[in-house]
Amino acid sequence: MFKDIYKNKKVLVTGHTGFKGSWLTTWLVKLGAQVVGISKDIPTNPAMFEELNLESKIKHYQEDIRDLPKIIEIVTDEKPDFLFHLAAQPIVSTSYSDPIETISSNVMGTTHVLEALKISNHKCTAVIITSDKAYDNIEQVWGYKEDDKMGGKDIYSGSKGAAELIIKSYFHSYFTKDDCNVRLAIGRAGNVIGGGDWAKDRIVVDCMHAWSKGEVVEIRAPKATRPWQHVLEPLSGYLNLGQALYHNELLHGEGFNFGPRAEQNHTVEELLIDLSKYWDFKDVKDAYKVTGNIPFHEAGLLKLNCDKALFHLKWQASLEYKETIAFTSEWYYDFYKTDKNILDKTLEQIAKYEDMAREKGLKWTE
Ligand SMILES: NC(=O)c1ccc[n+]([C@@H]2O[C@H](COP(=O)([O-])OP(=O)(O)OC[C@H]3O[C@@H](n4cnc5c(N)ncnc54)[C@H](O)[C@@H]3O)[C@@H](O)[C@H]2O)c1
Repeated sequence: MFKDIYKNKKVLVTGHTGFKGSWLTTWLVKLGAQVVGISKDIPTNPAMFEELNLESKIKHYQEDIRDLPKIIEIVTDEKPDFLFHLAAQPIVSTSYSDPIETISSNVMGTTHVLEALKISNHKCTAVIITSDKAYDNIEQVWGYKEDDKMGGKDIYSGSKGAAELIIKSYFHSYFTKDDCNVRLAIGRAGNVIGGGDWAKDRIVVDCMHAWSKGEVVEIRAPKATRPWQHVLEPLSGYLNLGQALYHNELLHGEGFNFGPRAEQNHTVEELLIDLSKYWDFKDVKDAYKVTGNIPFHEAGLLKLNCDKALFHLKWQASLEYKETIAFTSEWYYDFYKTDKNILDKTLEQIAKYEDMAREKGLKWTE
């Protein structure tokens, strides 16, 4: 996998205690990396980081990326070979109630990581994670390309768009110099689903909570359509990007989209029906209740054009919609309803994902 580039390498992951960070940490440990993590807290209860006991497998720093001296100290002391920056305040609704937390973590936090890399200036390959929401959503029906305008009308999107501008200016101001040892690239992906997420205001998380207690979940916008992507898809993209960037200096400073296949677009209602099949409902009516049907204005539907990742990295999404559903529901079902070891379940899903990608001939599986 990834031509063994991560084996015995030191990899720093910020936001390693979160949903995507916990999956990435588990995968990197499986790949033989020495993982060092920086997060300010364990963001949910329960949390995948704790359920998998990841703290025992890595070096864990509980620090805030807004603490510049601390971040400089960790990066200069640890001198990681690779860095994946995921730490952020990622919830749109929280960004409305707490804009300062969101902007300071997402914009200044990213700036601090870049500043620490600049000061340390050791040989490091860095993948900075922003979001599809960094693009200025002009409600076009076709996919956004990497050189489209950055923007964002809500605070979260604005903070990710602003982080992109800062990354670009750091790149041009410091990281293109001859004596610079840092290489960086940007990964942009959309909303993801998968086992181990307990963040608030996410439909799949609400379902799993309710269904684990045999309760009905209430939905208000059943016809809303979203591109449902499993968390392992963008993570394979980030790892693929890190590997390619390490070898190819032409990718330095480039952004890459990692989106789902076009046929992954399904309504919330279709998603719930399909997820509920993995639970013990006699009738799907026991799983969810529609409490209103807001004629949904698809302001949030934002497609990514992933041709650049296909061309430069030979990266493509691996899972079909039905496999995405199976991976997600089975993980939570095993967590809540069986005594199966959930670290084993997670590793089993990563191995299965690797096998499926290998069958599709994806280069990163070599
Ligand atoms: N989950 C998604 O659907 C999605 C979609 C697009 C982009 N992203 C991006 O991916 C990244 C990870 O998202 P997630 O869903 O795993 O989030 P999460 O909320 O599960 O985890 C966030 C992590 O960041 C850490 N963190 C937050 N603020 C921090 C700070 N100031 N200092 C240090 N650590 C801090 C938290 O402790 C946690 O480890 C984020 O950058 C997010 O914007 C996520």
